[in-house]
Amino acid sequence: MSDNPYQDGRGNKDASITNTKGMGTMTPAHRKSGPTTKVDGGPFLIGDTMTGGYGKGPDILHDCTIAVNPGEIAVIVGPNGAGKSTAMKAVFGMLDVRSGSVRLDGEDITRLTPQDRVVKGMGFVPQTNNIFTSMTVEENLEMGAFIRRDDIRETMEQVYDLFPILREKRYQAAGELSGGQRQQVAVGRALMTKPKVLMLDEPTAGVSPIVMDELFDRIIEVSRTGLPILMVEQNAKQALAIADKGYVLVQGRNAFTGTGKELLEDPEVRKSFLGG
Ligand SMILES: Nc1ncnc2c1ncn2[C@@H]1O[C@H](COP(=O)(O)OP(=O)(O)OP(=O)(O)O)[C@@H](O)[C@H]1O
Ligand SMILES: [Mg+2]
Repeated sequence: MSDNPYQDGRGNKDASITNTKGMGTMTPAHRKSGPTTKVDGGPFLIGDTMTGGYGKGPDILHDCTIAVNPGEIAVIVGPNGAGKSTAMKAVFGMLDVRSGSVRLDGEDITRLTPQDRVVKGMGFVPQTNNIFTSMTVEENLEMGAFIRRDDIRETMEQVYDLFPILREKRYQAAGELSGGQRQQVAVGRALMTKPKVLMLDEPTAGVSPIVMDELFDRIIEVSRTGLPILMVEQNAKQALAIADKGYVLVQGRNAFTGTGKELLEDPEVRKSFLGG
């Protein structure tokens, strides 16, 4: 078996994502130590009935709930302006949550800063400005590992094995890369902290269908190592096809929730959000 936990077999479109592999070095820490210390028995990461907005502005989120468990890909879809990015930012602590809570592995982290959430194991790739364009690819990955004091080279090799093009372009400025390659830098940067949960806001934004499929395959590969993935996607049909769990958000509220398959088959969801 390969040393790289992402390398055994390519991802596919199978929605039934299971953990078939041994524990790799990028396996989330909580899985190494046997049973987790969860106290509430709830999801591994949850933004629970969150209400809030930006600064002193109006509420954008209204009792919005999103969650993900180990080995799962949870996908958030919905129209432009629905509050998908806002919900992700709320979970990451970039927004004042006026009511509701955010819990990670049973611990209430609602009041933690984003930096402290990274220390707790959250990896977040925002929708925009998610790389340092004037720095090289490798410097971007090094920046990603800023909280670590141990040797980061092994993780960097794993990221390069996952995204071989990044190894090729490691000394090139990230701003010179294509859209799809930049997204790989952004995801790779987040993986450098060895997160326990990965949050991606539109990882396939602005890329061609072929590159989108390729990125989804890589995301499935990462998920199979046991790392829970919570992501927002504009390509709703394709994303729900790989989702264990899906959320349709409308005007800051949960409109529909179900397995990816259930949502894809729901006539209402199809008509209103998936183009029929
Ligand atoms: N920094 C901000 N300050 C104030 N309002 C904001 C800010 N960012 C977003 N909003 C508002 O919050 C609402 C939801 O925006 P959000 O970016 O969360 O939507 P989205 O579902 O991610 O949309 P898209 O599909 O276009 O990415 C919008 O009305 C938007 O104008
Ligand atoms: Mg958005």
